[in-house]
Amino acid sequence: MELKRNVGYAAAKLVEDGNIVGLGTGSTTLYFLEKLGKRIIDEELEILGIPTSYQSFLLAKENGIPVTTLEEHSIDIAVDGADEVDSRLNLIKGGGAAHTMEKIVDSAADKFIVIVDDSKVVDKLGAFPVPVEVIPQACRTVSDHVKQFGGVPALRMGQRKGGPVITDNGNFVIDVKFESIEDPAYLEKELNYIPGVVENGIFFGVTDEVLVGSSEGIKSLKK
Ligand code: A5P
Repeated sequence: MELKRNVGYAAAKLVEDGNIVGLGTGSTTLYFLEKLGKRIIDEELEILGIPTSYQSFLLAKENGIPVTTLEEHSIDIAVDGADEVDSRLNLIKGGGAAHTMEKIVDSAADKFIVIVDDSKVVDKLGAFPVPVEVIPQACRTVSDHVKQFGGVPALRMGQRKGGPVITDNGNFVIDVKFESIEDPAYLEKELNYIPGVVENGIFFGVTDEVLVGSSEGIKSLKK
């Protein structure tokens, strides 16, 4: 928790007055939003946020960060968490089922910064299953399809809610475990070609910088 707070706060310091900011989702970005809200008040900054989920929308409101939409503004900087980061700064995201909107917002930003603790950094992606958002009616056919790529699909179920998790867009999530992901760019494209897939959680070539929190401090990884 402390490592997440440290990177979240460090990322909030990178935002400049006048910026339009992509607001990521998850337990690490929670600290980013907290600090950003505090800076807006303390430094009287003119900042607008573009949320990546209902969760970040509500946290933005709670922390006094005014929000806007992609229709109205371009994004200067986006800050988001990740479930895995590889040595080339490719990501797996979507542990919180928000990867579709996250990919739209994060890819649209002039600068995309990822904040993680050091447990998320890996040589090669794939220990974490790839979240795939699907149209509910396509659940079985998509599951059959991913098996052809060597994936093992599992429909994500709610923790307290009975039945499947429903995304902010009203869809299901299938978590697909691969033995290892040798070519993330290829897999990201192939998964999205399957009829019924809305978006998958591989983010290839989108990241500009990763702030990694560890017990020794914060390390910056850049391409
Ligand atoms: C949301 O769907 C995810 O992409 C999160 O950004 C990712 O799971 C990281 O979350 P934590 O910061 O909670 O680990």
